[in-house]
Amino acid sequence: MPAYIVIGAQWGDEGKGKIVDVLAEKMDLVLRFQGGANAGHTVLHGNTKYVTHLVPSGVISGCSMNIIGNGCVVCPLTLLEEMRILEKQGIAFSPQNFALSGSAHMVLPVHKYLDKCLNEKIGTTVRGIGPAYTDKVQRTGIRWETVSAGTFEAAYHEHLDLVEKVYAVIDKAELEELRRALPQLLETVEILKPYIRDIRPLLSRALSENKNILFEGAQGTFLDIDHGTYPFVTSSSTSIGGAFTGSGVFLDFDKRIGIVKSYTTRVGEGPFPTELFDETGERLRRNGNEYGATTGRSRRCGWLDLALLKRSCLINGFNYLVFSKISCLSGLGPLKVAVDYDAAGKAIYTELPGWEEDLEGCRDFNALPKNCQTYIRFVEDFLQVPIGLVSTGPDRNNVILRKALFSS
Ligand code: IMO
Ligand code: MG
Repeated sequence: MPAYIVIGAQWGDEGKGKIVDVLAEKMDLVLRFQGGANAGHTVLHGNTKYVTHLVPSGVISGCSMNIIGNGCVVCPLTLLEEMRILEKQGIAFSPQNFALSGSAHMVLPVHKYLDKCLNEKIGTTVRGIGPAYTDKVQRTGIRWETVSAGTFEAAYHEHLDLVEKVYAVIDKAELEELRRALPQLLETVEILKPYIRDIRPLLSRALSENKNILFEGAQGTFLDIDHGTYPFVTSSSTSIGGAFTGSGVFLDFDKRIGIVKSYTTRVGEGPFPTELFDETGERLRRNGNEYGATTGRSRRCGWLDLALLKRSCLINGFNYLVFSKISCLSGLGPLKVAVDYDAAGKAIYTELPGWEEDLEGCRDFNALPKNCQTYIRFVEDFLQVPIGLVSTGPDRNNVILRKALFSS
C-alpha cells in the first residue's frame, strides 16, 4: 500500500499543486489534512489552469476519492463557490468522489471579519483561518457535523452570542450583518450536506484494500504553528505531524516528499534571512511570476536558504525532494545559497556559478547546463536527501525524473 505525502519545505508556494497533480493520477485517495482557503494550488493541464484552495487537487485528474480531513477549516460559501468554478471547468463532484470530514471546523463570516481586524501584524490571507482555529482550540467552534445533526442553526446563534460578549471590535451593526448571513449559509450547507462524512471508514477501507493514498499538504513548514517563524505563521500544523492529527490515521508514508523551490519566497510579514531587495529579487519575482494565487500579493523573493531547509528535512523526515522552478534562475549571474547564519542571524552564503540557458521544458538532467547540474547536486549533498524530480516549467510534462516517483 504505497502512501505518499507532499509537504512544502519553505514558506509555501513551492509548487505543490503541480506535483500533487502528477501523483494524483495514480492515486485512489487524496486527502487534505490541514489549512483552509489560505492555500492556492495551481495546476496546468495544457492551456487550462485550475486553482484549488480547499478541494484536494486530486479532483482535477479524476482521482476516485478526495477528502477534506478533520484538520482543515472550511467556509461553506467558499467551498461551494470553488466547486462551482471547478464544475464549470468540467470537474464533477459527487459523494462518491468527494467527502468532507464532519469533524472539520467551519470558517464563518465572523472569522473573516475578525481576521481583517487582527491581520495587520501578520499579513494574513484574510480567509478567517486564525480566528477559526482559535475557536476550535478554545472549544467554541462549529464542526461540520452540526449540519448532519440538524444543530447548525442553533450553534450559529449561540456562537454569535458568545462573539458579542467577547469581542469589543464587533459593533451592533456588524453583528446584525453577521446574523443576516445565516439564510445563505443554511442554504449552502444544505447543498454540501451529502458530502459530510465520518472519514475514518473511508480511510480504513482504503488501507485494507491496499489503495494508493496521497496526503496533500498546504502552506509550508515554516508557516507551521509550532515549527514555523512564530508568530508569523499560519494556525495549523503544516508539517508532517499535522497529517496524523488532521486525518485520524497513522500512515507509514513510503515517500515523504518535500517540495523545495530553487530560491525562496514568502508572503506576508516575518523573518526572511535571504531576502533580496535589489534588482535580482525583482528578476526572480518576474521570472517566477511570484504573485499570490490566493491574494494576488507580490511575494518577497530571495536566495535559496539551505540552513532553513536542513531544519525542514529534520522536522519532516523527507526521503524525496522535488526541486521546483529551476528555470527561473537562468540569467541571474552567480547564485548564492545560504549555508548557515552568523550570531546576529544574518545568512552566511556560498556562491555557485550561474547559467544563461533557458531551461523551460527541459526533460533530461544531462542536457542541463553543467553549472545547473552542480547547483542541484550541491543542494542534495548539503541536505543529504535525493532530489528525485526537477521541475522545469509549469506544465505537468516539464519535469526531469531522476528517481522513480512511484513505488511499485
Ligand atoms: P500555499 O498552500 C504562502 C501566509 C500568509 C501569512 C501567514 C498567515 O499556497 O502554499 P493565514 O491566512 O494562514 O492566517 O496567514 O501565512 N500563508 C501562505 N503563504 N502560501 C500559502 O499557501 C499560504 N497560506 C498562508 O501570507 O503570512
Ligand atoms: Mg499560495
